[in-house]
Amino acid sequence: MSTLTIFNAAARDAAEATPSATTSRPIPAVIGADLEVPVKGGRLVGYANLDYAASAPCLEPVSAAVAAALPAYSSVHRGAGYASQLTTARYEQARHTVRAFVGARPDDAVIFTRNTTDATNLLAGCLPAGTTTVVFDTEHHASLLPWPQAVRLAPPAFPGAAVRAADEALAAIDGPKLLVVTAASNVTGELWPIAALAHIAHRHGARILVDAAQLVPHRKLNLTALDLDYVAFSGHKLYAPFGAGVLIGRRDWLAEGEPYLKGGGAVRSVGDDVEWHDDPEPRHEAGTPNVLGAIALAAACDALSATGWTELVREEERLIARLRAGLASIPGVRELSLWGDDHPRVGIVSFTVAGYSAREVAEALSGEYGIGVRDGKFCAHPFVRHLLGTADGGCEDGTASAVRASIGIGTTQEHVDRLVEAVRDLVSRR
Ligand SMILES: Cc1ncc(COP(=O)(O)O)c(C=O)c1O
Repeated sequence: MSTLTIFNAAARDAAEATPSATTSRPIPAVIGADLEVPVKGGRLVGYANLDYAASAPCLEPVSAAVAAALPAYSSVHRGAGYASQLTTARYEQARHTVRAFVGARPDDAVIFTRNTTDATNLLAGCLPAGTTTVVFDTEHHASLLPWPQAVRLAPPAFPGAAVRAADEALAAIDGPKLLVVTAASNVTGELWPIAALAHIAHRHGARILVDAAQLVPHRKLNLTALDLDYVAFSGHKLYAPFGAGVLIGRRDWLAEGEPYLKGGGAVRSVGDDVEWHDDPEPRHEAGTPNVLGAIALAAACDALSATGWTELVREEERLIARLRAGLASIPGVRELSLWGDDHPRVGIVSFTVAGYSAREVAEALSGEYGIGVRDGKFCAHPFVRHLLGTADGGCEDGTASAVRASIGIGTTQEHVDRLVEAVRDLVSRR
């Protein structure tokens, strides 16, 4: 059998292993849905995982896709053997799947990274010389910090003010410019007006990077329809905790930027001089890539698409509305919000409880009720300080922190009700 025949057979096998995104399927289960954890007194209770925004559990179809890829696991882009060809085809198929998942343009680069932080840093290293980045202080540090030359904008009072602030800031900048914005806040869950911001960016000849880490597990994103230049997200927040993330977007800056890692795979030839690939994917994916991570990420994309967003969003909105209403009914509980109660949001709620530090609440929820939440400033220090009205304080400053509950596939009404009743119980003790 010739190498070409082997490759074609491998590509067909890889494609056959990819589920069709057109068939509507039931909401898949998550691995660990029946996890039991110890609480005070030594009792075991079912774990109420309400910490999806930090890292989501693995979907069963994701775990199955990884298990299915393992028997033929081999090197990618390097081997003539069938297993190597098949693994290469699966890896490249994953790129296509992720591209389709976000509705990217056919010529967009799809670069597998470790996570969103890795993706934003990769792009930061590829900005044309002299690029100014405009970023809001509401961003997660992954999107706030990587930029060599940044203009930081204060948290806007309403969505239109975000568009106006970006408009003014971009107008004042000469030379290449990039606007960076999160699609859904990791602190409040609130959705940002990314279509309007993309429009404004382009009117000023700027590009836009959307941090979609908290959006893609909850809503359909269409990069082409929204006219976004770059999108970044993490597999582990998308039910694929196998260490891969992705940067998707326009090829030119990525084709010219400094290779992110220097080594095998990123070069065309090495003699006295080095000729780097100018295709962004090999240029920035030196070394052996995280094949299983990419396969897992693609399997999550397939599973969500196959389930259908209408059903996923309906169930999430029902549960998050119940959670927010429950918390709002408890005296001394304050939900954090930039744009008010009615602004659309994904399944994330951050709150404070009068008389308790965030850490005390989180520890009590875990130790007494078997509930997992996050407490702190969620790697968004300027934003959380703004929302809490506190002046300063780093990671260790418990007075300037909040509790965050976040939901997704696998969250049940019982989890939500348990959290509300646990917080009510804590408040009644003070
Ligand atoms: C909005 C947002 N952006 C970026 C990140 C960073 O993601 P990662 O830790 O996967 O790099 C997070 C993680 O919490 C996030 O919520």
